[in-house]
Amino acid sequence: MRATAKASANIAFIKYWGKRNADLRIPMNNSISMNLSNVYAQTSVEFNKNLTRDVVTIDGETLKDKENKRVIKHLDRVRKIAGNKLKAKVISNNNFPKGTGVASSASGFAALTCAVTKALELSLSEKELSILARLGSGSACRSIPDGFVEWKAGRTSKGSYAHSLYPPKYWDIRDIVVIVGEKEKKVSSTKGHSVSGSSLFFDTRLSKMREKVKEIKKAMKDRDFSKLGEIIEAEAINMHAVMMTSKPALFYWLPETVEIINSIIKWREQGLELYFTLDAGPNVHVICLGKNVARVKRYLSSVKGVKRIIVNKPSVGARLIG
Ligand code: DP6
Repeated sequence: MRATAKASANIAFIKYWGKRNADLRIPMNNSISMNLSNVYAQTSVEFNKNLTRDVVTIDGETLKDKENKRVIKHLDRVRKIAGNKLKAKVISNNNFPKGTGVASSASGFAALTCAVTKALELSLSEKELSILARLGSGSACRSIPDGFVEWKAGRTSKGSYAHSLYPPKYWDIRDIVVIVGEKEKKVSSTKGHSVSGSSLFFDTRLSKMREKVKEIKKAMKDRDFSKLGEIIEAEAINMHAVMMTSKPALFYWLPETVEIINSIIKWREQGLELYFTLDAGPNVHVICLGKNVARVKRYLSSVKGVKRIIVNKPSVGARLIG
């Protein structure tokens, strides 16, 4: 009764920020993302009758309190479906810093969902895995299918899941994650979602959402990189405007974040086509075409405050391994 799974983090082109139902993690709007080949979690689960409690270790640390409860709650969900009461040992490792806007909860809960369901001998469809992963962390449902993904918001738990729009090889787009801060963020995404509705701009952002999703899907269909980049960047700024104007106001950016954003705008004016997006953290995701990666990396390495650069191709979704 053991299994290991690997799942990538994903970067949202159109963001999930605000929930219709917080307990079920049903979002207000559809979101669009790309799975990332070089930022991932690998999670092993073993159910054992000799265990008296669940033990969860992430990156070598045994979880406590809130984080531990959240994982155990997820184990309980799957145990309930499988009709099993055994306790589990969970060991998960990320190859990137946790809680800094590189979507660790997405890869973590996607890998956990695949490993736990397999260890409990459930055989679920991709859609069912996506629904289950969503209950652990919303964005995790997008790390289940391959490549470029859409999460259909839905209105019910059964109707809220992600599916693949295009496989990883469809488009040679890269997400270069620029790490400027490695500290865990002060306000979690879950807390951020819960206050998002207090922003004056919340409803305004949502009122344009259907149109925006339609436009980005067209840009993807046409492989129109300029249009895609324009939408991605505007959407990231919109989401951060909501964050900064909610109560309490959430500022995830560091001075280095602004420095990189300004550099990207400058390089673009000079003829290098690249765009930026950010999740709930200070690290910048630079979106460019594969042919420009070497140049973008060279440029980025000249900016002060850049700690690390992780180049990602579009990736497959969550997989069992071993
Ligand atoms: C800014 O999926 O981390 O990355 O469902 O509460 O776990 P919970 O939230 P989470 O929110 C992700 C927010 C985001 C945008 C996105 O990935 O769409």
